[in-house]
Amino acid sequence: MYGGAIQEDMGVGARLAERYRAVRALSEALVAPLSDADATLQSMPDASPAKWHLAHTTWFFETFLLRDNLPGYRLFDARWPFLFNSYYEAEGPRHPRAARGMLARPALGEVLAYRSHVDDAMQGLLIRPDLADLIELGLAHEQQHQELLLTDIKHALWCNPLGPAYAASKVNGAEGGVPGWTEHPGGIARIGHGGETFAFDNEGPSHRVLLEPFALADGLVTNAEWQAFIVEGGYRTPALWLSDGWAWVQHDKVAAPLYWHEDEAFGHAGWQKRDPAAPVTHISYYEADAFATWAGARLPTEFEWEAIGQTHDPAAGNQLDHAGAIMPAGSLGLFGDCWQWTRSAYLPFPRFRPAEGAVGEYNGKFMSGQFVLKGASCATPRGHSRASYRNFFYPHQRWQFTGLRLAKDL
Ligand SMILES: [Fe+2]
Repeated sequence: MYGGAIQEDMGVGARLAERYRAVRALSEALVAPLSDADATLQSMPDASPAKWHLAHTTWFFETFLLRDNLPGYRLFDARWPFLFNSYYEAEGPRHPRAARGMLARPALGEVLAYRSHVDDAMQGLLIRPDLADLIELGLAHEQQHQELLLTDIKHALWCNPLGPAYAASKVNGAEGGVPGWTEHPGGIARIGHGGETFAFDNEGPSHRVLLEPFALADGLVTNAEWQAFIVEGGYRTPALWLSDGWAWVQHDKVAAPLYWHEDEAFGHAGWQKRDPAAPVTHISYYEADAFATWAGARLPTEFEWEAIGQTHDPAAGNQLDHAGAIMPAGSLGLFGDCWQWTRSAYLPFPRFRPAEGAVGEYNGKFMSGQFVLKGASCATPRGHSRASYRNFFYPHQRWQFTGLRLAKDL
């Protein structure tokens, strides 16, 4: 039995080591098309330079794994934690978020050397069962930053009048099918993550929620449907909008999703004609809500979405497998293409407790003023999401791959 347990541990350790290698390699593949100048750009305070994402995810392993658990570990550079701590108050002061684009130094090559230094030192910790959960958190954290890296560089390249492509175009098209509605009879649903597998602290505890009968659309709202909303005066009809949303439309002079211009949209492959059948993306919560009102429907709650999402494969659909040009394609299933706005405020579940230690700052402290998004997008590393996953953004934000799936009462 003892020998079997050891073998079992080695199997788990080997799997974690392979996952570590694969996740870290994908981050570096994502920056391979970028010059040092590209990787230093910060186009707005919400976005970060690609180089910063590479270094910050490495700082996470250096700080919470190596510094705290590997005797004799020496920091790669004692000045860098100040640059690459994101928002961990317990880790002390840090470089201001909005000034991350000022970090021309360290150069991209130095950041890659930092990654290799930390990866070498991490080899000694990947077999420690007591650290497996924290390593899993570090990998899930890095996957979140892979998605941000892609959406941030897209925004930065869009700001360039030349409209440069991040990567060569990939042939993509809607998969077709005739989407209908999936009905749910209502009743008591079990929501949130239980089980032993990895999940973020904000996904639990598992608890019961009462649902009224509802239906959830099988497909995401498409570019063609959004075009009809525009043509019928959607952005000029205050009755369709939440008050905050109408103020946002007026103030920011919003008349279309982000990245739209005439019949084209900007993407990782540069400016391209929009596919009418592809899901609409880069819309704010306000836009999603106004469209749903116009369509005689509503946004789902996160609980409705999850109750149906539990019957779908979270690793299916159009999600990120490797570096390249990505865009929503119209896959069926609840996961992939775009994150989907829900009408649920991002709040703690009953009996929620943040994770212990500094990583307790990961999720709980952001539960104010944001909305939950469900599913996964074409920029989400495949295998990262699940039915209980709770993404969250402020209602005006739309530089992520955000879309919508309608719901209605039965
Ligand atoms: Fe982070």
